[in-house]
Amino acid sequence: TLPTDLFTLADHERHALARLDGPVWAYFSGGAADEITLRANRSAWDALTLAPRVLRPLAGGHTRCELLGRTLAHPIMLAPVAFQRLAHPDGELATAYAAAALGAGLVLSTQASQPLEAVAQAMLGDAGRGPLWFQLYLQPDRGQTRELVQRAEAAGYEALVLTVDAPCSGVREREWRAGFRLPPGIRAVNLPAAAAPSASGGTGPSNGAPAGSSALFDGLLRHAPTWDDVQWLQSSTRLPVLLKGVLHPEDARTALAHGVAAVIVSNHGGRTLDTTPSTASVLPRIADATGGALPLLVDGGIRRGTDVLKAIALGARAVLVGRPIVWGLAHSGAAGVAHVLRLLRDELEVAMALTGCATLAQAGREILADVGNF
Ligand code: FNR
Repeated sequence: TLPTDLFTLADHERHALARLDGPVWAYFSGGAADEITLRANRSAWDALTLAPRVLRPLAGGHTRCELLGRTLAHPIMLAPVAFQRLAHPDGELATAYAAAALGAGLVLSTQASQPLEAVAQAMLGDAGRGPLWFQLYLQPDRGQTRELVQRAEAAGYEALVLTVDAPCSGVREREWRAGFRLPPGIRAVNLPAAAAPSASGGTGPSNGAPAGSSALFDGLLRHAPTWDDVQWLQSSTRLPVLLKGVLHPEDARTALAHGVAAVIVSNHGGRTLDTTPSTASVLPRIADATGGALPLLVDGGIRRGTDVLKAIALGARAVLVGRPIVWGLAHSGAAGVAHVLRLLRDELEVAMALTGCATLAQAGREILADVGNF
């Protein structure tokens, strides 16, 4: 049974903090370096102000939205978050049951700690479910990548989300200081054991590369994906390919030119490059640069229904939440994740009603007091 004092996502965070070990908490909650981007993601949503509107017709309103040819019950999706069994023994399975029950789209991480087929099964049986997508990290071995893609296709995943902002891990010293390591029995089970990364990709700077050589450029980055690999992936699958981790308007235009199905505006929750702009601040620039021709999603610091509505107003079709999933999971498993999703959706409906939006299509930039003509 759920704790009785869960009124906000912050309440979920508090309960998760009390439940998880210090190093695991550092892994889930930390960002890169000084965590400036991590904080900026949050404060940017806070800083946007909404323009309340009164006496507009709200009867018959709803939160439905269109995405990749489907109608979703609401625009709140679950971001790919690795190693969810660190938070709860049921891990990604619990998350999938919750997502299905709440009609929320789910993106499963390449680094999931449970088999991608089992997660698909947990989700696909539910008639009211949202989209089920597979997040892909291109593996140095393209044959292995193709195998992973084929497994995802066969299991019923409906799109591939290629994460492009993490050819290497960020400098995540909060994790390093806390001494985080994957415990025995938890690993990226969908990758061959030899290819499976440690959770942080390392335990600190340069683990003993000889002077004069670069651990990174001579190692991992020899296989770093390029735009050519995006094309390769598109030609090796029948599934739509989305890019996750685009932050520059020019990259969004290039993505559009490559015919990707959608772009997720993301800075990986502040876990890769520190001191990038917040996603809320770049979303409108990317929307302008792509002029509605490319469906946009956004994540990073979304913790309130008002944040969801602001994201829609700035040009997103849908949003993803990362850490809050882990919070719900950590203290209450599937029920906790479902509660997180329900809270966000309820708050979104209130925010819509009080800004005079019966539908998300009515939520344009003019509902933002700082951007529109308040
Ligand atoms: C992530 N994220 C992530 N992204 C991805 O493409 N593949 C992955 O395996 C992971 N793993 C992962 C683990 C943990 C612990 C976190 C916190 C994040 C990034 C994630 O999908 C998303 O972009 C951010 O988490 C969104 O920000 P918020 O909602 O956590 O602030």
